[in-house]
Amino acid sequence: MRTMQIAIDGPAAAGKSTVAKIVAEQLGFIYIDTGAMYRAATLKALTAGADLTDGEALSALLKNVDIRLEPGEQGQRVYLDGQDVTEEIRTDQVTKSVSEVAAHREIREQMVQLQKELAEGRGVVMDGRDIGTRVLQDAGLKVYMIASAEERAQRRFEENRTRGIRTPLDVLKMEIEKRDRMDSERKESPLVQAQDAVLIDTTSLTVPEVASRIIGLAKERL
Ligand code: C5P
Repeated sequence: MRTMQIAIDGPAAAGKSTVAKIVAEQLGFIYIDTGAMYRAATLKALTAGADLTDGEALSALLKNVDIRLEPGEQGQRVYLDGQDVTEEIRTDQVTKSVSEVAAHREIREQMVQLQKELAEGRGVVMDGRDIGTRVLQDAGLKVYMIASAEERAQRRFEENRTRGIRTPLDVLKMEIEKRDRMDSERKESPLVQAQDAVLIDTTSLTVPEVASRIIGLAKERL
């Protein structure tokens, strides 16, 4: 089958990665979770006790960072300087700090470069905030996935429950809205729908429904 690049962007907890994984698997493409890369960079900064407001210092700290996404038995694993940090990058502390780290131009340039290299010449589904607008500007299919904040908080709540995390629903909603605000209002590559992206509101759709809609769109363009 021919290859193509699929960009999926949207606000926090809209279901992008769940759907992106299914789409990639069905089409035989690789999946790249760019949020996981910013999370790994944030974990490194937090562990080093770095000043998260200082883009230059962060960039120096992350200059030779080794971030890898590798397939594991139960989905993609994330490695930071050779260590498996798949679970650690999902902690509350990383989630609360990641948008601050991701706002720095120096960090974004580094991550975007890495993401472009990973996608080069391959069939790929990549999800994030600036994939259609910056990383894969020529993607064959761009999707902008949204859902109401209530629905997104509810989904995160259910997901957390299976992992034994008990953050109250209203706190989750507040955190999601705060992260969206920071990601949308930043100067560098803010979260915005690409002009040529297809908008999918997933509020009242199931995961298989969203995935099959995207697969259908991809097949039309392959
Ligand atoms: O996708 P996820 O929610 O894991 O992303 C975590 C954070 O990483 C986002 O809130 C955003 O600040 C940042 N991010 C970004 N650009 C991307 C992917 C994620 O700025 N392409």
